[in-house]
Amino acid sequence: MVIKSIKLKNFRCHEEFDFEFKKKTSVIVGENGSGKTSVLEAIYEVLRGKSFRATDGDILKRESDFYRVEVKFSNGERVVVLFGDSESGEKKKQFLVGDKKTARLPKKNRYPVVLFLPDDLHLVSSSPTRKRDFFDRILSEIDDSYSSTLNRYEKTLRQRNDLLKKYTEDDFEEVSSVVFSWNLLLAKYGMEIRKKREKFIAEMNERLTKTYRSIAENEDEVFVLYKLQGEEVSENEYFKRLESELRRDLILGHTGFGVHRDGYEFLFNGSDANGSASRGEVRSIILAMKFIEAELIFEKTAKRPVVLLDDVFSELDEMRQKALTRNFKDNQVIITSVEMSE
Ligand SMILES: Nc1ncnc2c1ncn2[C@@H]1O[C@H](COP(=O)(O)OP(=O)(O)OP(=O)(O)O)[C@@H](O)[C@H]1O
Ligand SMILES: [Mg+2]
Repeated sequence: MVIKSIKLKNFRCHEEFDFEFKKKTSVIVGENGSGKTSVLEAIYEVLRGKSFRATDGDILKRESDFYRVEVKFSNGERVVVLFGDSESGEKKKQFLVGDKKTARLPKKNRYPVVLFLPDDLHLVSSSPTRKRDFFDRILSEIDDSYSSTLNRYEKTLRQRNDLLKKYTEDDFEEVSSVVFSWNLLLAKYGMEIRKKREKFIAEMNERLTKTYRSIAENEDEVFVLYKLQGEEVSENEYFKRLESELRRDLILGHTGFGVHRDGYEFLFNGSDANGSASRGEVRSIILAMKFIEAELIFEKTAKRPVVLLDDVFSELDEMRQKALTRNFKDNQVIITSVEMSE
């Protein structure tokens, strides 16, 4: 699948914007604030159904009533995203796939994307939340059922936290009977999420050092550690822990235990990469993971993901740029750059 063109209307700073893509590599060049990331955001929306950074209200160009994105593919297909006033007076989003209208992008029209944002270059030293989001996004691209389980988990967690915020320790009995079923669900979804993350990280680790070495041509060892919060538990023990920590959760006003607290660490030759790996080495680690992401997506979905590189290409030295070109030679690659280096 190849994206042929994009047409934007009232999308962030773009009142009107048209772009024709190359089959292989396209480069969108512009000054800071000219709307480069927004173009990638629009492509991402068409391929994945939602933005990677904001809500539709944020995207809608200030003072405008609607925004529209139209993408044409080389096989003649067309997808339109429309966001604007509906009959009820509220703003609504609509996807037009061929001549079918839907509120969400149908699963069969979703297409995998490998997204590389400037922030990803700092992943090794970033917060646990950022790291979780990074891997959650990759897992969601590879495995549809992961993203639906994660959504269910997050929804249940939100409900539980909302309740914990509303009540105090004095309401223990009442809250306890309400959260019982949520605890069961959190344990169920939580265990599924853990198992999938563990399996995915094992797959990642099987390839990581080799892929890393192919970029950097050296002998370092790289390893990602999935760090459980606490000991390894069964589903029943997971549930019991939620039950037993309810009093503490009520005092804190949120759920202290669960997969939303599990973390990741990068090991570089056996020590924490944050502090031991150089800036260039860290970049190679991230690049290697992006290559593996694309490989895994292809192996599991038989689709070559579209690669969106926001402002990162020109940040890399020649050796890493070459590795990137080599690894993504079979993918459509769309690059943004403030200035293109030679
Ligand atoms: N809803 C909106 N309406 C109008 N303008 C917006 C809206 N949201 C963001 N902008 C503006 O759109 C511009 C483009 O943002 P974008 O992030 O796409 O730029 P960019 O070219 O990627 O910049 P940089 O090189 O700094 O990353 C910014 O100036 C931003 O303030
Ligand atoms: Mg940008």
